[in-house]
Amino acid sequence: MRLSIEPGPLGTLGALLLAGVASSQEPQPLMGQPVRGLSAQELALFEEGRMAFIAPLPQSEGAGPLFNELTCAGCHNVPAIGGFGGRRVTRFGVAATSTSPFQALEGLGGTLLQDQSFTIACRETVPTQATHTALRGTPILFGAGLIESIPDATLVVRANNQPSGLVGRVHTTVPIETPGGARRIGRFGWKGGIATVDSFSLDAALNEMGLTSQFLPQENAPNGDLALLAQCDTVADPEDMPDAAGFTRTDRFTHFQRFLAAPAQTPRSGMAGEAVFEAVGCADCHVASYVTAQVPEDALSGQTIQPYADFLLHDLGSLGDGIVEGEATETEMMTRPLWGLAQRPSFLHDGRATGGTFEQNVAAAIAEHGGTATPSAQAFAALSAAEKDLVYRFLGSLGRAEFDWDTNNTIDEFDWFFIYPLMTGPEPATPLSPDDTGAIADVDQDGDFDLVEFGKLQRAFTGQ
Ligand code: HEC
Ligand code: HEC
Repeated sequence: MRLSIEPGPLGTLGALLLAGVASSQEPQPLMGQPVRGLSAQELALFEEGRMAFIAPLPQSEGAGPLFNELTCAGCHNVPAIGGFGGRRVTRFGVAATSTSPFQALEGLGGTLLQDQSFTIACRETVPTQATHTALRGTPILFGAGLIESIPDATLVVRANNQPSGLVGRVHTTVPIETPGGARRIGRFGWKGGIATVDSFSLDAALNEMGLTSQFLPQENAPNGDLALLAQCDTVADPEDMPDAAGFTRTDRFTHFQRFLAAPAQTPRSGMAGEAVFEAVGCADCHVASYVTAQVPEDALSGQTIQPYADFLLHDLGSLGDGIVEGEATETEMMTRPLWGLAQRPSFLHDGRATGGTFEQNVAAAIAEHGGTATPSAQAFAALSAAEKDLVYRFLGSLGRAEFDWDTNNTIDEFDWFFIYPLMTGPEPATPLSPDDTGAIADVDQDGDFDLVEFGKLQRAFTGQ
């Protein structure tokens, strides 16, 4: 928004001063950075948590015997620690037939495959009984603490007030860290089966790395074979014990993830493509914004965030992954947040929309939307090339920080080269609109790229 106050007798100086007042807004954090406004203690927990997230877990401290990787960062690392990654994991089961429902094959190590182990003998394989397998890609964790802080009640209200034709539903689950406690609404994972960051830390520690905890004290046995497990498992359970400061490793994983900043969106609002995105029904599921609850961490409380998801399970027909998980059926998937999209080379749970340009991958992802998302996918397909382009440009703003011209999560000479000539000064003849190229530098969205923002560019410069 532009200020309605005129610069008046102070002329240019006045305008600069006004720009200074209006520009109190700072550029958004890059991916991998902490949320703004953390206390010194929280920031220390973030940094220590980051180290725990990166450090390979030794076998003597609980890794394995079955695992997929030895660190969380082994999968979550692009374009920064806590990000997405090319690694996909395998789920398996017996598909439903006309006479029997889906079987998770829990007794045979289902539904998640651990494809590595310290000894060949204990390696898990997809059992021959399985008639169905599905791949799942690694999502970004940026903004996880903010997603966690969306009130359950908000998601329930949304579920009860959906646009016509949509019957998305909440996925409820008891958090792993509060056994026997109240059910909460899931919002993490491709099927929304996990409600809190703590639960995901505990779940991933066990199922991706083989680290047992107070809450999940049972190792995964290779294809369910307990005798074999006894031979390979050398560390007493539970393995995850508090350190000198009283935090377990999973606590530390949680600290890091909870304080990760949300992906940037530049410009933050007002692009023409967002209106088209709404008009074709994308926003019916990919709901733009939420206000977080009052939670113990001030920096996560009462924040307006724009994840672009309703976190509900929708029947997407052929795009379902064929796995029953918690309350989710084979064809139900949770609407994924679209924030951060611009920096990802593949989309959808198995990463099938990949290999092309950003625009091509987005188009492929939309075309795969089946079931209750079909009308929206068809409405998109019917758009003119120019309208589609507006949508791509809007989606390309999700995951781009101010000044990051080439959307690669660094502000370097290359960005500087393209950004610097876009300076307008405080009172351009035609104010910048969110669809102008210069909007990438209009940090406070007041229609100009002035000296105050130039100063911010200098401070945001990260170099190579
Ligand atoms: C082998 C690769 C791999 C490793 C190692 C791994 N993850 Fe993940 N992570 C994934 C995949 C795949 C998913 C999607 C899971 C699903 O929906 O089934 C995921 C999802 C998540 C999510 C949910 C994010 C969202 O928005 O839905 C969180 C949180 C998470 N992982 C945390 C962790 C933590 C903490 C660790 C370390 C203890 C870890 N991950 C280790 C691959 C991995
Ligand atoms: C009925 C609800 C619904 C509608 C309508 C919908 N989506 Fe989705 N969208 C989903 C779900 C559910 C997923 C997760 C799919 C999966 O698990 O592979 C998804 C995934 C995506 C992804 C991939 C996200 C990722 O993390 O890989 C993109 C991109 C996307 N949608 C864009 C759109 C656009 C653009 C539109 C409008 C043309 C749209 N969607 C309409 C529910 C919907």
